[in-house]
Amino acid sequence: MKKPIHIVSATIVTVLLLSGCVTENGDRQTDMQLDRKVDSVLLLMTLDEKLGQLTLYTSDWDVTGPTIRPDYMDDIRSGKCGNIFNAHTVAYNKKLQRIAVEETRLGIPLMFGYDVIHGHKTIFPIPLAEACSWNLGLMKKSAKLAAKEAAASGLNWTFAPMVDISRDPRWGRVSEGNGEDTYLGACISEVRVHGFQGRDLSDPYTIAACIKHFAAYGAPVAGRDYNTVEMSEISLRQDYLLPYQKGIEAGAVTAMASFNDLFGVPATASKYLMTDILRDEWGFEGFVVSDYDGIDQLRDHGVAEDKQHAGELALTAGIDMDMQSAIFVDFPALSLEEGKVSMDDINAAVKRVLRVKFQLGLFDDPYRYFDESREAEIVFSEELMDHALQSALESVVLLKNEAENGRKILPLTAPKKIALIGPLADNQLDMLGSWHAAGDHTRVVTLLEGLQKKYTSTEISYARGCDFYAEERSGFSRALHLAKTSDVVILAIGENQEHSGEAASRSNIDIPGIQEELALALIETGTPVIVVIMAERPLTFPVLNEKASAILYAWHLGTRAGDALADVLSGACNPSGKLVMSIPENTGQIPVYYNSKSTGRPDDPSNKYTSKYLDVSNNPLYPFGYGLSYTIFEYGEVRLSDAIIGMNDTLEVSISVKNTGDYDGEEVVQLYVRDMVGSLTRPVKELRAFKKISVPRGEEHKLHFSLTREDLKFVGGDLEYIAEPGDFKVFIGPDSENLKEAGFTLKN
Ligand code: BGC
Repeated sequence: MKKPIHIVSATIVTVLLLSGCVTENGDRQTDMQLDRKVDSVLLLMTLDEKLGQLTLYTSDWDVTGPTIRPDYMDDIRSGKCGNIFNAHTVAYNKKLQRIAVEETRLGIPLMFGYDVIHGHKTIFPIPLAEACSWNLGLMKKSAKLAAKEAAASGLNWTFAPMVDISRDPRWGRVSEGNGEDTYLGACISEVRVHGFQGRDLSDPYTIAACIKHFAAYGAPVAGRDYNTVEMSEISLRQDYLLPYQKGIEAGAVTAMASFNDLFGVPATASKYLMTDILRDEWGFEGFVVSDYDGIDQLRDHGVAEDKQHAGELALTAGIDMDMQSAIFVDFPALSLEEGKVSMDDINAAVKRVLRVKFQLGLFDDPYRYFDESREAEIVFSEELMDHALQSALESVVLLKNEAENGRKILPLTAPKKIALIGPLADNQLDMLGSWHAAGDHTRVVTLLEGLQKKYTSTEISYARGCDFYAEERSGFSRALHLAKTSDVVILAIGENQEHSGEAASRSNIDIPGIQEELALALIETGTPVIVVIMAERPLTFPVLNEKASAILYAWHLGTRAGDALADVLSGACNPSGKLVMSIPENTGQIPVYYNSKSTGRPDDPSNKYTSKYLDVSNNPLYPFGYGLSYTIFEYGEVRLSDAIIGMNDTLEVSISVKNTGDYDGEEVVQLYVRDMVGSLTRPVKELRAFKKISVPRGEEHKLHFSLTREDLKFVGGDLEYIAEPGDFKVFIGPDSENLKEAGFTLKN
């Protein structure tokens, strides 16, 4: 029977008032108040209603995994589903919310989750690209605006930020993360959580964040998605955990378990990860959601005999919400009877879920995210579209810029004729990238459109040239003709959006198909070729790298891709992006990353018996931190305040950076540290600080960094963070290889 909402809400509110925990003046709730509210609702709930709150189903609107629950609306109506994902727009979500609030006994509101990974409808660059901006303020703003747009579309929970560190570009999901470095990844994790959640989750312009995929999902063996993870516990803690921890400390109210197993236990069944580390060590108070079907997959992992057993393993490990397995909704009742789980286990999970619903303000007003006029005003608003451009501008990485006749090929100031070629040159859909949520490709500005707007008196001709994979070369002749009759070729090649993301691992990460063959043929014409590589992972292209006149790594830049690229190519914007993942020379080098260990036989070209390959150098094609500018930055010497510091001292480090080129520019100044002798082997360098500065041409900036014992710590043999006395080196420079250095000693 349908009940009017105010009566249902009144039931809950009355209980809350009686329990003395509603602040009528809307004051922010203290933890104690919140717990009392949660307890008062829990008191009203039957076991079935509790299990419903632990259940999350996808709508059929946008399916992101292998299974679907066709009758999810009936599940909501019968109280068997308390949370929905992959449904959006005010109209649709309001309809679902009405069912939960008006047609169920208690009227507990639904939470609406979605993968708002790099924008909701207005799409920003893929996260890996945006990380190349090294601009934390920019990334925070992206998360904030994505939250604003998503919240206006009826959502209150994003499955982001994804903060999995990865050193393996074969893995398709590097696109969603922040690259190979733990320190940078942790800084980004923190700001993205702040961006999504703001200061107060009950602000209807914010949404709940979800730290994922916990843990070490970015290190699958051989880069194959969902594969086993093999690593030492020291490596887990040293290289992988910090970004999750920083996201939790920043206040993320939810976390997602990863698909992989680690130390022989699938994360979904790992009490060590979900309870010991997440809750006991880090103090996480929010709820943990499984990944898509993750609980049922415990059977495939071979640790659960059947669904009931899978549910028991997950619940007792510390998973609170079941995404899509439809196991928590039924089986814990049986397990309870059999004494395999306790009512305390179930109540603890329900309380965590309800707590977040209270924090979101859903009990105050379940319809607070459903305002059609707000939706119309915010979606694709100028604020979002402007930010999409800014973010894209800062994500582009200039890898190569050769001089022709004494002048660098870029920026391209006044060409008479441009030949624009390639399958990504006039392509809207692929600019959105993988996990583009509700992104609308019809709003995307392509490179062709961007160039036409920018170069109004240039003749621009366009040819697709070839496809991503087909062996069809019939488009070559027109492309070559255009190249021969133009001043310059701009060639947009790389991956389409399907080549990356989930379930998109590749064993060979070259530029797909015959695109490189086309590129080399164009270069043969003698017309300078500017290659714009669009992709969601580092690709390998050593031959093209040798021959192209200029290379821009342009990722998938989102809704304003074409505008941003036209600004960069023309010089309206001076590129400042720096790689956050090394670009390998070839696939066999993987994993290749800057913070490797020395080994007992460090690479020495003159000595056969050292750690190296016979057929390729140890170095990547382009290292972590690398990216050129149209101007030149000259670095001074590294100056230290002291040669010796004590454990409680602060070392002041300074360096000057001068813009000696012809353009104003931005530079990411990077500081690395090396612990020369440790009780465990230490990396040859580790990023410990960075600053992005803007330096007008001709000017010099002096930069100051402070290092304390905290910056020198590492995970020791007993898994504690320790700083050991001894000699250290500090390096500063524009990337992880081109560095100035100085040494100091840390004393006890
Ligand atoms: C992915 C998650 C995502 C979920 C819901 C899963 O397949 O691994 O990252 O949040 O689907 O779409």
